[in-house]
Amino acid sequence: DWTMAAYKEEAIRLIREQVGDEQVICGLSGGVDSSVAAVLIHEAIGDQLTCVFVDHGLMRANEADEVVTLFRDHYNIPLIHADEADLFIDALEGQDDPEKKRKIIGRLFIEVFEKHAKSIGGAKFLAQGTLYPDVIESVSFSGGPSVTIKSHHNVGGLPERMDMKLVEPLRELFKDEVRALGRELGLPEAFVGRHPFPGPGLAIRCPGGITREKLDILRKADAVYLDQIRKHGLYDEIWQAFAVLLPVRTVGVMGDGRTYDFVCALRAVTSVDGMTADYYPFSHEFLGETASRIINEVRGINRVTYDITSKPPGTIEWE
Ligand code: XMP
Repeated sequence: DWTMAAYKEEAIRLIREQVGDEQVICGLSGGVDSSVAAVLIHEAIGDQLTCVFVDHGLMRANEADEVVTLFRDHYNIPLIHADEADLFIDALEGQDDPEKKRKIIGRLFIEVFEKHAKSIGGAKFLAQGTLYPDVIESVSFSGGPSVTIKSHHNVGGLPERMDMKLVEPLRELFKDEVRALGRELGLPEAFVGRHPFPGPGLAIRCPGGITREKLDILRKADAVYLDQIRKHGLYDEIWQAFAVLLPVRTVGVMGDGRTYDFVCALRAVTSVDGMTADYYPFSHEFLGETASRIINEVRGINRVTYDITSKPPGTIEWE
């Protein structure tokens, strides 16, 4: 793709110009955006870049391992794997307000980055995979009054006291363009085609108070759901699919016993840029089979529902 090849060269030039010979750290989330940003910056400045993968304990099953393997082994990019699950989960435990969850996670991210920036001898720059829709969704919503729907923590700058400048080479791009750039940079197709995953991770897919137990149940249900989607060859038709664990228990019957367990909601949408979305029209067979698998394979869930809300009026995530 000639446009992306040209974009890449220009972006590399701008990154070199901006950072000179200073050190840069880049927060990796496991998603496409931060991965593409990291590989691009690595092409521009090589080992002046150190990546920090902050494992907040809110990842999907296997996510952490896949990211660490790709960056360390495939790309040889210096990577710090910061296992901070306890720090994040302890701070979030019992917290049920969506925006407070985001604020707590955003603050802890910065704390962890600061710590590692110091440890590599004072990085002057922090790189992020912020996209154009992140920038505009944070300030306005489809022509309406200027309100914040969700405060994505990777938008809006850094705390005053933080002595780092931002490098955001994807700030003008939409998701499909980031994927094209990722291909241009030679990222594996399986990585480039990944569904988006929000920075706050499973915390915003667990409405109500967060507990370690609920996160475990959610992680398992989500893995079964995605396994179903892959087995049926639907992954690439869907923009984003995930499970949400609802904070209600309902009565069920299993064998000859009564159960009283959580409800899981499944979400899948099609979209071009995440700004608007339609729910994905799964067949009833697919939904029925997936519900049985989740209920049989995941202890703690005895009822599954499918979310048929489009965006607007719903948002893609539940929080
Ligand atoms: P919504 O739920 O606002 O989501 O329709 C639109 C896209 O943004 C992702 N999203 C987030 N990403 N931090 C992120 O990095 C966040 O706080 C956040 N909230 C939503 C969401 O997964 C979807 O792709």
